[in-house]
Amino acid sequence: MAAVANSIFTPATAARFDKLATIYPLKRSALVPMLLYAQDEVGYVSDEVVAELAVRLDLLELDVRGVLSYYSMLRTVPAGKYNVQVCTNISCMLRGGFELLDHCKHKLGIGHKGVTADGLFSLEEVECIGACCWAPAVQVNYDFHENLTPAKMDAVLADYAAGKGKNEPPSPSIGSAAPEAK
Ligand code: FES
Repeated sequence: MAAVANSIFTPATAARFDKLATIYPLKRSALVPMLLYAQDEVGYVSDEVVAELAVRLDLLELDVRGVLSYYSMLRTVPAGKYNVQVCTNISCMLRGGFELLDHCKHKLGIGHKGVTADGLFSLEEVECIGACCWAPAVQVNYDFHENLTPAKMDAVLADYAAGKGKNEPPSPSIGSAAPEAK
């Protein structure tokens, strides 16, 4: 691993990255988990994150940006405190996913990739989030909400706004972002 002086990450995350860079046969395989952990800590993948991860993995920044642009769950701009991801893929679409998305747009006053003025919520239309059996489904940060209706969605949003969302306080716990090889 290339030496990183003055890491932008907390000591715990920097130590995690030190380890991640050593456990894969190809060092660059650590890039996606590192991007997810970095996003959890910083809030998005900033230019500074890109620069440090490139150094850590002996990559060009262009290599990092190529991977970054491929994965829709990676952000290059800050999201709201609660990132509301509404699935409109086939199962959810058949069970009201688009109506739910329109409802959220209206309720929050923002569109796809928008952030509310108070920074509390952001909204995204996403592809399947793996909860098809319980469609329509929405993911808020790392929490799933299923079998939703507009009325149930209102309750979900109200709970988060009141600081009483599922698994509150929101865990920016970097341990939940990606599986880590031992
Ligand atoms: S189609 Fe929406 S969770 Fe799979």
